[in-house]
Amino acid sequence: MYKRRLSIARLLDSSSPQMGININGWVRTRRNSKTFSFLEINDGSCVKSIQAIADEEVDNYSELRSIGTGTAISIAGDLIESPGKNQRWELRVLSFKIVGSCPGDYPLQKKRHSDEFLRTIAHLRGRTNKYGAMFRIRSRLSYAIHQFFQGHGFHYVHTPIITGSDCEGAGELFRVTTLDFQNIPTVGGKIDFSEDFFGREAYLTVSGQLAVEPFCLAVGNVYTFGPTFRSENSNTSRHMSEFWMVEPEIAFADLNDDMDLAEEMVRYLIAFVRTDCSEDFKLFSDFVDKSLDARLGLIETGKFERVSYTEAIKILTKNNDGFEFQPIWGRDLQSEHERYLTEKHFEGPVFVHDWPREIKPFYMRENNDGKTVAAMDLLIPNVGELVGGSQREERFDRLQQRVRSDSLNEQDYWWYLETRRFGSAPHAGFGLGFERFLMLVTGVSNIRDVIPYPRTPKTLEF
Ligand code: 4AD
Ligand code: MG
Repeated sequence: MYKRRLSIARLLDSSSPQMGININGWVRTRRNSKTFSFLEINDGSCVKSIQAIADEEVDNYSELRSIGTGTAISIAGDLIESPGKNQRWELRVLSFKIVGSCPGDYPLQKKRHSDEFLRTIAHLRGRTNKYGAMFRIRSRLSYAIHQFFQGHGFHYVHTPIITGSDCEGAGELFRVTTLDFQNIPTVGGKIDFSEDFFGREAYLTVSGQLAVEPFCLAVGNVYTFGPTFRSENSNTSRHMSEFWMVEPEIAFADLNDDMDLAEEMVRYLIAFVRTDCSEDFKLFSDFVDKSLDARLGLIETGKFERVSYTEAIKILTKNNDGFEFQPIWGRDLQSEHERYLTEKHFEGPVFVHDWPREIKPFYMRENNDGKTVAAMDLLIPNVGELVGGSQREERFDRLQQRVRSDSLNEQDYWWYLETRRFGSAPHAGFGLGFERFLMLVTGVSNIRDVIPYPRTPKTLEF
């Protein structure tokens, strides 16, 4: 059986002293006094480090006195009550072993580094308090997402990453190919994709939605949660080329059910972070954004407004807040408009629903007015669009018409259309950007700092 390593998190949680234990971790700091050395050891199990104290009785004590920050170390010792007032426990060192030394050019010598600098050493930034906390929260929240859906009887569907269709129709696709770029096969002056690996054009998925929908119409409420890819060439603090999306799809449901689900899920996940991840969360609410906890508290218990797109445009037109872009019916909302609605007008989260059909993808259900579709975006203060979703067009004829009028290749969607011929049913779903959600709950303002290895245009270092 796998022998579990004793974590520092568990040790610091101990209710009594423990003799003859062993810890493994990395040295955060070392301080020498005349006859003692104090080491702060962190093993990534929690934000706190344990203080280890050694004296000259310890074998190879002189080696320990010059140990470098970042060294991997294994220590045997006793957990005893600490006389220091900042911690309950400390570790009296009986013996130690240097597992991996760390020379003086280790970049994390100081306590504080800028986020910009840490981005250039993404392979090491998890060793800082802030990024350790970030990636633990990321892990716990992934678990909470499964817990939320599994607890509500949803089935997890593994949708493919390689796909043949552009779900959002925005043309932001990365190609997947094994064609030899030095010798590209052509027919009639065009690339001959029949020679390619799949015998046709293939891409990285921009969304798992189209693939998850047939399972919604098969096993009921489902969700997918995985990486998605967009080649959109925008260098903003809220966009990445690779990000994770949570996408539930609910059967026999309409747009209101969809908004209800999104609201419940967001509240659940916020409550989870504030309780389950309280220590790591505290780092962000103390040091990154002092208003974070209060703001999240309001979202957790406050009202989520619901306003139609048409109404939103009216509000924006009436209150022209020196906008750079005029709010015009039929155009997408700019982030300055989103900010106005969430931060000034409603002062909280707001669903904007029933959008002009011209600016939305083919799969959204057409409303009776013939001009709008049953779509919704959830906008959040400071974050902007967190969720995008819709009720799906379940009527075969309308969907087929829309595929045609959007000049999509009908043959590529034969299987999707078929689900509307064989026992079609109203259904709805949404996508929640996982990194956007992490920005919301940590107050971190750049999306590159909430994912282990950010991918953005012109940067792929790691
Ligand atoms: O609004 P989007 O494009 O919706 C869809 O892809 C639907 N197919 C989802 C569905 O109905 N199942 O994307 C959903 C969310 C956005 O609201 C945003 O939070 C996030 O995904 N997102 C991004 N996050 C980071 N970087 C990007 N480039 C993103 N693009 C979208
Ligand atoms: Mg969207």
